[in-house]
Amino acid sequence: MFVMHNSTAHSRSHNGSIACGGRTCIERLARATTPHCPITSSVITATRAKTISMAAAAAAPTSNVVPVDTTLNPLVASVKPSKTMALTDLATSMKEAGIDVIGLAAGEPDFDTPAPIVEAGVAALRAGYTRYTPNTGTTALRKAICKKLQDDNGLSYSPDEVVVSNGAKQSIWQAVLATVSPGDEVIIPAPYWVSYTEMVRLANATPVVVPTTPEEGFLMSPEKLAATLTPRSRLLILCSPSNPTGAVYPKEHLEALARVVGAHPRLLVLSDEIYEYITYAPAKHVSFGALPGMWDRTLTVNGFSKAYAMTGWRLGYLAAPRIYAKAAAIIQSQSTSGASSISQQAALAALALGPGGGEPVQQMVRAFQERRDFVCARLRGIPGVNLAEPSGAFYVLPEMSAFFGPGAHADGFGPVPDSDTFCRYLIEKANVAVVPGDAFGADSCIRISYAASLETLGKALDRIAASLDPKIYKRRTGSS
Ligand SMILES: Cc1ncc(COP(=O)(O)O)c(C=O)c1O
Repeated sequence: MFVMHNSTAHSRSHNGSIACGGRTCIERLARATTPHCPITSSVITATRAKTISMAAAAAAPTSNVVPVDTTLNPLVASVKPSKTMALTDLATSMKEAGIDVIGLAAGEPDFDTPAPIVEAGVAALRAGYTRYTPNTGTTALRKAICKKLQDDNGLSYSPDEVVVSNGAKQSIWQAVLATVSPGDEVIIPAPYWVSYTEMVRLANATPVVVPTTPEEGFLMSPEKLAATLTPRSRLLILCSPSNPTGAVYPKEHLEALARVVGAHPRLLVLSDEIYEYITYAPAKHVSFGALPGMWDRTLTVNGFSKAYAMTGWRLGYLAAPRIYAKAAAIIQSQSTSGASSISQQAALAALALGPGGGEPVQQMVRAFQERRDFVCARLRGIPGVNLAEPSGAFYVLPEMSAFFGPGAHADGFGPVPDSDTFCRYLIEKANVAVVPGDAFGADSCIRISYAASLETLGKALDRIAASLDPKIYKRRTGSS
C-alpha cells in the first residue's frame, strides 16, 4: 500500500487525527505500520510518551502489574492488507489535501443506488424494519433470492440453502471457513481478487495460485487445473465475470473445467458471481453450479453491491447445498448475526426490478460498456500496452511490463522496477490512482477501474499518456 506524507500540507481532521498530503513525500509502506512523516511521527511519539507515563503512574501503587504481552495471532502477520482499499483511501486523503487526483482504484460503481431501491430502504425504516432479522436473512428475501437463482441462473435452491450476509465478502469468508480445513489447498486462478488468497491464509490453508496470461484471455485452462490438483485440493475459486481482469468464462470452457472438477473426490467450487449482470454481449454469464453434476460441489456467491450500486448497503449471499449453507450460518450466528434489516427490505425491491436488474441496472451496464470501449481504445493507442479486452465487470487489466523492470526510469522520479513503483509514479506524477497488478498476483499489470465518467476517464488517460512520454519516461531494456 502507499501512504502519502507531506511535510508542507497537514490538516487536522474532525477527530483530531493528523492527515497529511502532497507531492513532496509519497512513500511506499508495505504494511503502513510505521509513521514516516516527521510531523505525524512527532505527534504519535508525544502521544505514546504521554500514554506510557500515565500507565506507569497508574501502575505505581500495585507493583505486581507487568507490561502486557502484545503478541498477535501469527495468522495476521501472514495476511496482506487490501491494496485496493489502501489506494482508494490514499486518493481520498490526497483530494482532501487539495490535490487534483483522479481515483481509478476503487471497486465500486460511481452511480447512485437506483431510486426504487432507495425508496424501499426509506419505507423500511418508516415501517419499523429496524430489528434483528433471522440469522440467515428474512424468509421473504431468501425466497426472492431462490426465485432469482432459478429464473436467471437455472439453479434450484430452497430458502434454507441461502445465507444472506453483510456483503459477498462475508459470504466468501464463511464459505472458505466452512469448507476448508487447515493444510488444505485452495486453487485460485490469477489474476485474482485480492481477498481470496488472504482469506485462505487466515483459514490456515494454502492458496495455490495458477497464473494466466492476456494471451489466454485470463482464463484458466482445464489442463492447468488438472496439473495443479493434489489429494489435498479442497476448493477451486472461480470469479466470472472477473475482478480484476473482466474475463467471462464461456460455457464450453466451464464445462471443460467441470469435467476435471468432477473427477476429483474432494474438490468443491466457490463460484463468485457478483459481477454477473455487468456482462457485455456476446459474452454471457453461466453459473458453474448449473452445469451437469456440479450443483452438489458448488457454493454460489452473489450480492447487491456491484449490479445495483449498493456497496454501502452491505448485502451479499451464499447459496449452497444444505450442509455447507448450514455451516456458514453457524459461523455467522456466532459472529455478525443477520444482515441489516433495512438493506434486506431494499434488496427485495432490487430483485423486483426484474431479470438482469431491469432497466435501471441495464442503463448502468450500457454506460460501463461505453467506458470500457473508450478506455480500451485509448490504452491501445499507447505503444507497449498489451490488452485482453474485458467482457464484464468494470476493470481493465493492461499488461504494462514494457514500462517497468530493468532500465525503466522516469526523470524526476527514478527507477521503476515493478508495478508497485509504477503506480506510485502514476499517482505522484500524473495524479492518477490505479492499483498495481501485484495485488492481484499479476505484477506485469495494473488495474484501472472505469467506474468513472467519460470525461474523468479521458482526463486520467491524457495524464497517464503524458507521464509516459519518451522524453521523460525511459522504458525497460532487455527482455527479462
Ligand atoms: C470479485 C469480488 N467478490 C466479492 C466482492 C465483495 O463485495 P461486497 O462485500 O461488497 O458484496 C468484491 C468487491 O470488491 C469483488 O470484487
